[in-house]
Amino acid sequence: MSKPIIAPSVLSANFSNLQADFEMLNNSEADYIHIDVMDGVFVPNISFGFPLIKAMRKLTSKTFDVHLMIVEPDKYIDAFKEAGAEILSVHIEACTHLHRTIQKIHSVGMKAGVAINPHTSVFLLEDIIADIEEVCVMSVNPGFGGQAFIENTYDKIARLKEMILKNNSKALIEIDGGVTLQNAKKLLDHGADIFVAGNTVFSSADPVQTIHQLKNIV
Ligand code: DX5
Ligand code: ZN
Repeated sequence: MSKPIIAPSVLSANFSNLQADFEMLNNSEADYIHIDVMDGVFVPNISFGFPLIKAMRKLTSKTFDVHLMIVEPDKYIDAFKEAGAEILSVHIEACTHLHRTIQKIHSVGMKAGVAINPHTSVFLLEDIIADIEEVCVMSVNPGFGGQAFIENTYDKIARLKEMILKNNSKALIEIDGGVTLQNAKKLLDHGADIFVAGNTVFSSADPVQTIHQLKNIV
């Protein structure tokens, strides 16, 4: 089994000293930087937008994995590319013409992901799974860091993995919300490829070591 991709979520970073947190991330085995954009409409919270993402872009060369929790994401695809996003995930619940949205993300040169809320069935992805590079499985209700992991996620991952294999899809399964050193192994065993970790990394006394442990979970 290959090692998981680690994507610390900067939603839990110290915004009054981002430079220090990015130095830590640059010195760690983090693969992606997970960036949560919230609009206060799709989710009951507002996080940050383009100026901050552009500022973060100057602090690292690690892959920017941007998770849009916003309505009408199509309007901003070019702007996220320009801000430095490399993987852009949109919520299935926010997209009426999901296939068109995915085409647009690809056309500007980014990888495309689809995020699904805890209540959304993985089977809704059946006709798009061959066209995307990432599925972001929400294992908490989106909007906040530090929430408790929803146990039904394990079954969803297994069902999704089966679908991915059946369709010869290259999509990686990302787990977002409540990932800890305790549940990471079980998630990996069910088919997870990418761990998002906010609270687990940034509340740790030794974040570099915690990232190392997540990367080498067995
Ligand atoms: C939640 C966000 C997550 C969040 C994860 O809406 O999408 O990426 O930052 O935070 P933790 O790992 O603390 O649950
Ligand atoms: Zn996220």
